[in-house]
Amino acid sequence: MAKGMKCALIGQAFMGKAHSNAYRQVSRFFDLPLQPEMHKIAARDGAALEPFAKAQGWAGWTTDWRSLADDPEVGMVDVSTPNHLHREMSLAMLKAGKHVACEKPLASTLEEAREMRDAARKAKASKTFVWFNYRRAPAIALAWQMLRKKRLGQIYHVRASYLQSWGMASTPMGWRFKKKHAGSGAHGDLNAHIVDLARFLLQEEIVEVHGAVARTFVKQRTWAETGKQARCDVDDAVLFLGSFAGGATASFEATRLAPGHLNDNTIEINGELGSLRWNLENLNELWLHEESERPGESGWRRISATDGANHPYADAWWPGGHIIGYEHTFTNQLADMMRVLARKKPIMPVADFADAYETQRVLEAALVSARERCAVPLSEIR
Ligand SMILES: NC(=O)c1ccc[n+]([C@@H]2O[C@H](COP(=O)([O-])OP(=O)(O)OC[C@H]3O[C@@H](n4cnc5c(N)ncnc54)[C@H](O)[C@@H]3O)[C@@H](O)[C@H]2O)c1
Repeated sequence: MAKGMKCALIGQAFMGKAHSNAYRQVSRFFDLPLQPEMHKIAARDGAALEPFAKAQGWAGWTTDWRSLADDPEVGMVDVSTPNHLHREMSLAMLKAGKHVACEKPLASTLEEAREMRDAARKAKASKTFVWFNYRRAPAIALAWQMLRKKRLGQIYHVRASYLQSWGMASTPMGWRFKKKHAGSGAHGDLNAHIVDLARFLLQEEIVEVHGAVARTFVKQRTWAETGKQARCDVDDAVLFLGSFAGGATASFEATRLAPGHLNDNTIEINGELGSLRWNLENLNELWLHEESERPGESGWRRISATDGANHPYADAWWPGGHIIGYEHTFTNQLADMMRVLARKKPIMPVADFADAYETQRVLEAALVSARERCAVPLSEIR
C-alpha cells in the first residue's frame, strides 16, 4: 500500500470542484508512489461548505483557511481562490512548511509573483506547483515529446489564441472584472494558459514582446446581488506578438468577447519539417502535417492521442478511442504532482513557482508594451 499525504484545498467553486474530482479519482486510475488524502477543505461560504465537502469527499471543512497552516497533519495545500489571494495564502503555507499547489495565473501582479517565487526558493523542504493543467492533455504531452525529438526541425511560428464569449455586456460584475481581485482580465486568465503552453511546447523562453494591444470594451457591469453598476478596470482582450530565443515568432490573443467561441484554446506550431495543431474543444486530437509527405497527397493527419501504449497518460484511462475530457487534465496533473512529491519523475514536467514566474514576466512585458506602445525585451522585466 502506497504512503498517503494529507491534502487541503482552499476554494469551493469552479476550481474547487475540478480539483476535488482530481483528488477523489487519481488513486483509482493511477498507480502512485504517494496517494493524496482528502483531509480538509476551506472556503468562505459556511452554509454551502459542509454539503460541498461531503458531496466531494472531504473529511473535514473550515471557514478559516489560516488554520490549515497550523494543522500538523496537512502536507500540501491547494490554493484555488481568486488571483489576489494566491500570494497571501501561498506564503502562509510555505512559511508553515507545506507543499503548495496554486492555481494560475501565479499572482495578480509581477511583484506578487516574484515574492512567491522567492518564498518558494527559500522554503527548501517545500515543493510548489501551478495548475497549468493543459500541459497534461495527452495530445499536448505527445506534441511535447515530438518537439523534443525535433520532429518539426527549426520552429518558425507559434500561433496561439484563447477565445471565450462569456464576458459579453450582459454578464454581471464579478471578481474577474476587478483589477484588485484579478490583476488583469482575459490576459492573466487566458493568455497565462497559452503563454505557458507555448513555452512548454517549444521548451525555450520568449525573449521579446514586439507589440501589444489591450482593450476594455465593456466599461460598466451590474452586480447581480445589489443591482448597482460598477466600473470594469481590467481588459476584455489582449493581443501581442513575441519572439522565442530560437528565433520563432509568436502571436497570442486572449478574449472573452468572441461570440461563438466557448472555450476555444488553440495552438499551432509551424516548422521546417511540418506543423502541429491542437484545440482544447477536441482535446484528444493532435493534428500533424509533415512536409515529407508525397506531393499532391499531403495534408493534415488527425492523431487520436488515446492509445495507452503510445500516448502519455492514456494508459491510466480507457482503451484507445475512448476519449477523456477537461477534468482528466487536472487528475493527470495531480498524479504528476504526487510523483514529484515522492521524488519520482513526472510524466510531463510540472510548472513550479519559478516556472510560472517566467510566464508572468511575459504577461507583464505584454502589458508594458500595450501601455507604452513599444517593444519590450524580456531582459527589462525582472
Ligand atoms: N486551470 C484552469 O483551467 C482554471 C480554470 C478556471 C479558473 N482557474 C483559476 O482558479 C482560481 C479560482 O477560480 P474559480 O473559477 O474557481 O473562481 P470561483 O469564483 O468559481 O471560486 C473562488 C472560490 O474562492 C473562495 N474564496 C474567495 N475568497 C476567499 C477567502 N478570502 N477565503 C477562502 N475562500 C475564498 C470562494 O468562496 C470560491 O469558493 C483563479 O485563480 C482562476 O484564475 C483556473
